[in-house]
Amino acid sequence: MARIIAGIGASHVPAIGAAIDNGKTEEPYWKRVFSGFVKSQEWMRQAKPDVAIIVYNDHASAFSVEMIPTFALGCAAEFPPADEGWGPRPVPVVEGHPALASHIAQSVILDEFDLTICNKMEVDHGMTVPMNLLFGKVDKDSHWPCPVIPLAVNVVMYPPPTGHRCYMLGKAIRKAVESYPEDLRVVIFGTGGLSHQISGPRAGLINSKWDKAFLDNLSKNPKKLIKIPHVDYMREAGAEGIEMVMWLIMRGALDDKVDEVYRFYTVPASNTAVGHIILANRSRAKASGKHKRAAARAKVERKRS
Ligand code: DHB
Ligand code: FE
Repeated sequence: MARIIAGIGASHVPAIGAAIDNGKTEEPYWKRVFSGFVKSQEWMRQAKPDVAIIVYNDHASAFSVEMIPTFALGCAAEFPPADEGWGPRPVPVVEGHPALASHIAQSVILDEFDLTICNKMEVDHGMTVPMNLLFGKVDKDSHWPCPVIPLAVNVVMYPPPTGHRCYMLGKAIRKAVESYPEDLRVVIFGTGGLSHQISGPRAGLINSKWDKAFLDNLSKNPKKLIKIPHVDYMREAGAEGIEMVMWLIMRGALDDKVDEVYRFYTVPASNTAVGHIILANRSRAKASGKHKRAAARAKVERKRS
């Protein structure tokens, strides 16, 4: 059976993608940001997930004001990087997992979450930037390390879904994954945020106190977060801070009690506070005997070489 082994939260600032694509990661401003993901990339290499479900938001790339799905699940075999105005990012096409994605669609829709199914979709910085942060730079002609199931959430046009709805969808996704017969190790990403506002009189707003409390509660007391109304995100975390509700889908897909593996927070990247967390499911232990043996073998091999 498939299992969710961990949840990952990561910001998606487009300038992070530009820094990678233009070879600026060693510049002091960017080094500060990327230094926070070195351990995470090592964690990811060790974890070797078979599939990643990435909860993200589209920024008028695949969708527009003409079509605004609240939740859209990518069931295609591949998702090309979108042209966001200066050509598609030089990253590989994202390979999907149509079998697991269709299974999730069926399970979650029959559980009364009315997902939109996308059999053709391009993905923008909202997805490819967190992928780079966790998987590192991947050559355009190479492959991302695992297939990805994108779940796009509307946080761009009012009304976005509530934090509670997101959390409950996470639970339904977990149930769907755990009813998939193949032994897959799945990670789920919640992306976007943390506090930021990119236009209007409050442009540049960052609220580190709010962000840190969000990360604390995400780890230890997520039920507190699901009660937060949209207006509080807007007021405290800026207009684009509402992206943070996507992290609650990831959190809903995890155990009530999780192990916080890693956390990183830095201010700013462009106009945004960059937050990152890795939360491991305690119940992963049941399914991970095979993986633990493989990880132990890999460790021995690394020591030898
Ligand atoms: C910025 C952040 C975002 O989340 C986004 O989608 C666009 C820009 C920024 O900080 O520049
Ligand atoms: Fe954004």
